[in-house]
Amino acid sequence: MVANIVGRAVQGEDFFDRVEELQKLKEEGLRQHLLLLAPRRVGKTSLLHRLATVTREAAGWSAAYCSVEDAADEVGFLRSLTEALEAIPAAKPSVKKLRKGRLDKILQGIDRVKLGPLEVARSHANDDPLDDALRQMRAALKDLPGHWYLLLDELPLFVLRLLQLDADGARARRFLQWFRRVRQNEVDSVMTLHWVLAGSIGLDTVAERYALTDTINDLQIVRLGPFTEPTAHAFLQALSLHHKVTLSEDVARAICARVGWLIPHHLQALFSELRAIHREAGCTLTLDDVGTAFSRLLDQSLHFDFWQQRLDKELGAQRARRARDLLGYCAQDPNGATTTTLELLLGKELQDTADRARELRWLLKVLKSDGYLREEGERWVFRSHLLREYWMRKYA
Ligand SMILES: Nc1ncnc2c1ncn2[C@@H]1O[C@H](COP(=O)(O)OP(=O)(O)O)[C@@H](O)[C@H]1O
Ligand SMILES: [Mg+2]
Repeated sequence: MVANIVGRAVQGEDFFDRVEELQKLKEEGLRQHLLLLAPRRVGKTSLLHRLATVTREAAGWSAAYCSVEDAADEVGFLRSLTEALEAIPAAKPSVKKLRKGRLDKILQGIDRVKLGPLEVARSHANDDPLDDALRQMRAALKDLPGHWYLLLDELPLFVLRLLQLDADGARARRFLQWFRRVRQNEVDSVMTLHWVLAGSIGLDTVAERYALTDTINDLQIVRLGPFTEPTAHAFLQALSLHHKVTLSEDVARAICARVGWLIPHHLQALFSELRAIHREAGCTLTLDDVGTAFSRLLDQSLHFDFWQQRLDKELGAQRARRARDLLGYCAQDPNGATTTTLELLLGKELQDTADRARELRWLLKVLKSDGYLREEGERWVFRSHLLREYWMRKYA
């Protein structure tokens, strides 16, 4: 039975469908390391948890899930990964080694790593603590017994953070090169560690923008999209069954039409409002109720604030502001805005035409891969009706 959950990743019985996607991850992941790409809120984290669960059911297989969303730097990354491995019994012996030596000292803050561009330049020196720690982690991973799915969530956010710490990209490059070697280890011999890297902004987009593509070109891209219309209907039926809310075919169709972009999050969010209306009125839901639920959802905006807050986190304040301006403009018209108009919008701040065009290309690419906008010929249009309405109320 699928419960109505909005916001946090879903697990167990609350996870609906994604059967083909899961199969694909399992099969393709056996041969190659994967890069799971999908805009935010499409269901990546939930899918990774599901993959971890089914992996653990097979004899000789283990799985670890690690989100590096909050890792502030390389040390934070190593800490997140160490803790994720520590949580899995099969990894205990290997992890024990991580809690010794330089890595542990660094994690405890005894051995300090202060990394600026200069320190990176010196990183070939033998006594570089971070190098030691990274080597130690690589060895521990190599040591893991049996087969593993290692699921790393929000990696692009972490890479962007490194790029904010050191704009010339040396730190990000160093990290990504190390990580490529970690993965390469396995492909050369028998592949026992299977990495799936995920994040909303495509790591590919970030890598391309900062000339880092060579560090991730071993990854195979797997895309996760919205539910199909039949799946969305089945999903709504499953939710209504669980919550004892009668939902006619017409109402379900109206929900899908209103949501437009059928990602599970939007369906869950609209359903939660409908549930509340049903509780208050106690009668069968009507088409009008769908309209009411839609407005209420936008009024409280709780589920959508996330979409604008995250911009700061991934782009930094200045760029996030530019992105908000662009989105505000695109939201005004259901048919979006042209590239030329958007370029003019950035013109107030960026006088140099080449700079401006480059900045606009990058921002639009991020907003596209992140699920805000889609490209329709010459125009940039909101991908989701819900999000456009939200944005209009808030900024336009
Ligand atoms: N397979 C699913 N079944 C039911 N609900 C889902 C599913 N996938 C995602 N959701 C809904 O979408 C929300 C966001 O899911 P999440 O996995 O966190 O997405 P992402 O990691 O892509 O941002 C969840 O809180 C839930 O409401
Ligand atoms: Mg997620």
